[in-house]
Amino acid sequence: MSISSDTRADISRFWSTIARSAEIGPGRPGGLSRLTLTDADREMRDQFTEWCREAGLKVSVDEMGNIFGRRAGREDNLPPVMIGSHLDTQVNGGRFDGIAGVLAGLEVVRCLNDAGHVTRRPVVVVNWTNEEGARFSPPMIGSGVFAGRYALDWAHGLQDDDGARLGDELARIGYKGSLPCRAGEIDAYLELHIEQGPILDAERREMGVVTGGYPSHGMRVTFGGQTAHTGPTPMDLRRNALVAGARWLTAVDDLGWAFSAQDGKASGSRLAVWPNKAGILSDTAEAVADVRHPDPMTVRVMAERMRRDAQAAAAIAGCTLRIEDEWSWGGDIFDAELTETVRAEALRQGWNWRDIKSQAGHDAYHLATICPTAMIFTPCKGGITHNNAEDCAPEDFSAGLNVLLHAVASRADR
Ligand code: GLV
Ligand code: MN
Ligand code: MN
Ligand code: MN
Repeated sequence: MSISSDTRADISRFWSTIARSAEIGPGRPGGLSRLTLTDADREMRDQFTEWCREAGLKVSVDEMGNIFGRRAGREDNLPPVMIGSHLDTQVNGGRFDGIAGVLAGLEVVRCLNDAGHVTRRPVVVVNWTNEEGARFSPPMIGSGVFAGRYALDWAHGLQDDDGARLGDELARIGYKGSLPCRAGEIDAYLELHIEQGPILDAERREMGVVTGGYPSHGMRVTFGGQTAHTGPTPMDLRRNALVAGARWLTAVDDLGWAFSAQDGKASGSRLAVWPNKAGILSDTAEAVADVRHPDPMTVRVMAERMRRDAQAAAAIAGCTLRIEDEWSWGGDIFDAELTETVRAEALRQGWNWRDIKSQAGHDAYHLATICPTAMIFTPCKGGITHNNAEDCAPEDFSAGLNVLLHAVASRADR
């Protein structure tokens, strides 16, 4: 016996958890600046842990600070069904990106509790560490180590702009757990996330069934030059790293425009220059950019163009060049059967939904490499995200939450 087919999620209960989370780590008005492993992140983790315990979940923390809230199953040794996302935000982040997915998982277990239903398999709600990559790059680190994509020591050694190490910061906030950060067998992973794009909102859809992600590639490029006086230094003797970085990022933007008719994107997102002071040429410029495109071959072409543009920018400015390929992801990675379960639930419940591709990275991408994975998108106003104006109404989650609830319940009972 599973839960009754008309069991509904409690949207106002879910909404009040979102509201509480939105008090922790405020950013610009209405938004959040809850960077990973800061004191604000610790406060949110403490709150999440408390909510898990109140819901009767057994909480554990792994060596990457990933937090697991586990609800026992009738056959408790079976591989669990997992629901997760992230509670960290960007510097000028919103209240929903990632957060909605973790708190949706919490709402699912609260509904199972209300129904007094013990599923056959355990159900685990997860908060993954450092999804955003805003403080420690690359993004999706906690899930990446869990899935075996990255080594634990390497991840612990990542440094922020002030030289703080990820592993030390985990320990500082009390979330360097003892559980090995290594996936066991997982029956299924589901992640609900706001779309972070305008499609569902523009089409007035109530949810999206995510069929995969745009193939994407991220690169970090460091240009090395030489400090010198901006006045007397002859033009042909300059090695201004700032110029190389600026030229490269301009070329990256041009690349995005060249592929925009096919929905390709190319974005510069960081330019860190040293010494970054008036009157002195720069000796270091570190720039980060990424390309995304629906077609995997084309994204490889775009990445190659980014590489060549970096070489050209370095040559013109007389700078040295170091290119690091930081990440690549995307493709048709989600599980057809689990995705079909989500689709069938959306149909059964009568929502206005569509298939959609993700254009942002998600922890689900890493999970998809180790277990059957599916994602649900919910609409957000105008697709605005990574911005304090990110906005959703409670009703925007009705379809996603209820589909997630029943998809999890049916999977956990089979
Ligand atoms: C991470 O979520 C990204 O898409 O950059
Ligand atoms: Mn996110
Ligand atoms: Mn984000
Ligand atoms: Mn993301």
